[in-house]
Amino acid sequence: MAPALLDRVEDARLAAARRQVHDTRTASILGLALGASFSVCLLTGLYSHLLQQPPSWFTPPTGPAGLYRFTQGLHVICGLASIPLLLAKLFAVSPQLWRRPPVRGAVDAMERIGLLPLVGGSLFLLVTGAANIAHWYPWRFFFPVGHWWAAWLVVGAMLIHVALKMPTVRESLRRPTAGPEPEPTSVGADDGLTRRGLILTVAGTAGLLTLVTAGQTVPFLRRVTALAPRRPDIGPQGLPVNRSASAAGTTGLGEDPSYRLVVAGPDGSERAFTLGELRALPRHGAELPIACVEGWSASAAWTGVRVADLLSAAGRGPSALTVRSAQRAGLYGSSELSADAAAAPDCLLALEVNGEPLDADHGAPVRLIAPNRPGVLQTKWVTRLEVT
Ligand code: HEM
Repeated sequence: MAPALLDRVEDARLAAARRQVHDTRTASILGLALGASFSVCLLTGLYSHLLQQPPSWFTPPTGPAGLYRFTQGLHVICGLASIPLLLAKLFAVSPQLWRRPPVRGAVDAMERIGLLPLVGGSLFLLVTGAANIAHWYPWRFFFPVGHWWAAWLVVGAMLIHVALKMPTVRESLRRPTAGPEPEPTSVGADDGLTRRGLILTVAGTAGLLTLVTAGQTVPFLRRVTALAPRRPDIGPQGLPVNRSASAAGTTGLGEDPSYRLVVAGPDGSERAFTLGELRALPRHGAELPIACVEGWSASAAWTGVRVADLLSAAGRGPSALTVRSAQRAGLYGSSELSADAAAAPDCLLALEVNGEPLDADHGAPVRLIAPNRPGVLQTKWVTRLEVT
């Protein structure tokens, strides 16, 4: 073939490869990846919701101890990895978004209207989720409530979108590609992006983002966790703190001689324990993680009194409880324990962590620590157990 003709063939191949960036097959591949990561976010997010607001038909499982650490860590990892995926998906379909005429019939109009909650809701979930774990709240609504409703909006819009697009997705993935993609070496700096280039870039960005953030919950990635909002080994006694004693208005509680831990019955009867009496009860040790709703987690060795032993010292049998804190400011000043959770052998009122009396910021003199619970439910500065 003549050199000029060869050049033209090569140019045509490159142009076709560049168009592939915006074709159905690219959109399908990215859409499937995004659908998978959003599904993991939805399932793990629902699990977090169920643990925090259990409906009557759901009893939070008391193990394995690290289950919530795993699910919420995965939630944030998949959520953050979804950011480059969503941006790439929007880039891949962008020519369609701005096409002329914008609407081609009634079904097309419905489909395009459905994109508003899908795209808007997805951006909302990812932006507010990322801002939340960075402790940046430039909004007035309560994050879990806004996040919860946006998740349902997105799921509804996504199901409709997937149902409408599935035949096209199947077709585009079955059909062989228009032709072999050029080798990366044959593409010059200004030759534009190919499908393979786009997908490798997205996979690389998502992978890198995971690598530099997942160390907040995956111990062996701690050394490379440059962008994680939390280092799980930094804080008093080597553990992070979200609400300090001074923020909660409980400074000095650990040294207060008038401190009492009260076990109250539904009949109004009460039994108060001094710190000395608590320390004299049988001690139990357990290795349990603090697993924050924000996705970070850290394990520690806790020592204290089993909740079940305290109940029996107060003359009560196993039962469900409300655990109340001395904290004066902010949310999460109390938490619920089901009868199963209160009876679990590792459900403790901890007096020590890693061999030392609890630091004020970790809830001194007494905090709740139990398996498979979000950190916000591991109530600190405990002053009262109410049998429900
Ligand atoms: C950057 C991405 C994301 C981040 C960083 C993120 C972060 C979080 C955090 C920190 C929570 C716990 C809220 C709390 O209990 O205080 C949460 C809950 C939740 N997330 Fe996400 N999320 C992201 C994306 C998503 C996506 C894509 C979905 C669904 C498709 C989703 C669905 C949920 C649900 C259903 C909950 C439970 C809300 C509740 O307890 O009421 N999240 N997320």
